[in-house]
Amino acid sequence: MVYLRFVQAELKNNLKRGEIMKKLALLGGAGGIGQPLGLLLKNSLPQGWHLSLYDIAPVTPGVAKDLSHIPTPVSCDGFAGEDPSEALKDADIVLITAGVARKPGMDRADLFKINAGIIKNLIEKVATVCPDAFVGIITNPVNTTVAIAAEVLKKHGVYNKAKLFGVTTLDVIRSKTFIGELKGKNPADLDVTVIGGHSGVTILPLLSQVKGVEFSDEEIASLTHRIQNAGTEVVEAKAGGGSATLSMAEAACRFANAIVKGMNGEDSTLCAYVEGGSPHARFFAQPVKVGPEGVTDVLDYGALSDFEKKTLEEMLETLQGNVSKGEEFVNNQ
Ligand code: 2OP
Repeated sequence: MVYLRFVQAELKNNLKRGEIMKKLALLGGAGGIGQPLGLLLKNSLPQGWHLSLYDIAPVTPGVAKDLSHIPTPVSCDGFAGEDPSEALKDADIVLITAGVARKPGMDRADLFKINAGIIKNLIEKVATVCPDAFVGIITNPVNTTVAIAAEVLKKHGVYNKAKLFGVTTLDVIRSKTFIGELKGKNPADLDVTVIGGHSGVTILPLLSQVKGVEFSDEEIASLTHRIQNAGTEVVEAKAGGGSATLSMAEAACRFANAIVKGMNGEDSTLCAYVEGGSPHARFFAQPVKVGPEGVTDVLDYGALSDFEKKTLEEMLETLQGNVSKGEEFVNNQ
């Protein structure tokens, strides 16, 4: 009987062509980021992947149905309601974008009250349904929600720091875009390392290391400031209609595909907010190498300029405070 159930599960997990199916669960799949992210994933995940959307919104199965009509070799389904378990079942990657977004005048920390509880509840489910999955957190404030996720997973005895990531790819792609604009370069050709965290002063693009471009001191100061405040630039431009959704979806899609590459044993490095033994804070965004079992190496981000050293020093109190807030949220309840 047990064997039969095993065979049935294996059959379900096999594609007609005999490939083992992999699954990505997208929590918050009907939201402002979730919908474009679902579209990008449907169009970019490799053959044999299954995309499962979950959201509290009743429209979610319909969003998945809509996506399912796009002719790519990625299947999808969608679940609505209070319980994400069906979407999480057998998931290899979980991306979490569920939560509320910023309005003008708010910073990411203002989202803590609502989003902290949402992350805690969703991660409780991840811990019981798919504890071995890679988890990428998009929900803000990322500096804090990742710490919440780690503590919840720890309480369940399933925390694997090699598989928990705060998604900071948007800071990288914004850096490429803004440098490209300023220097008349194709942003796709630029490689930028961004370290620290994912909010305001904690975002530190290492402009001194970008190859093929030179900056004046003024350009460094203004570009750094623009990259740090780029999320606010979008919040203000949307004038009460939300925060970055399309560029965030693109960033999260690039993040997910980098994880997929690593899972497949291909060379894959990316900047992400991880617990990687940084001397600066428990969680720190830095370049990491990803393999089938998660982060395999935390890479040296190289020498910093004096400006970068000072900016790093100045952010640490904020970053460490953001992390403690998440740890306390879980442990003082
Ligand atoms: C941003 O940086 C939404 O956190 C996201 O705009």
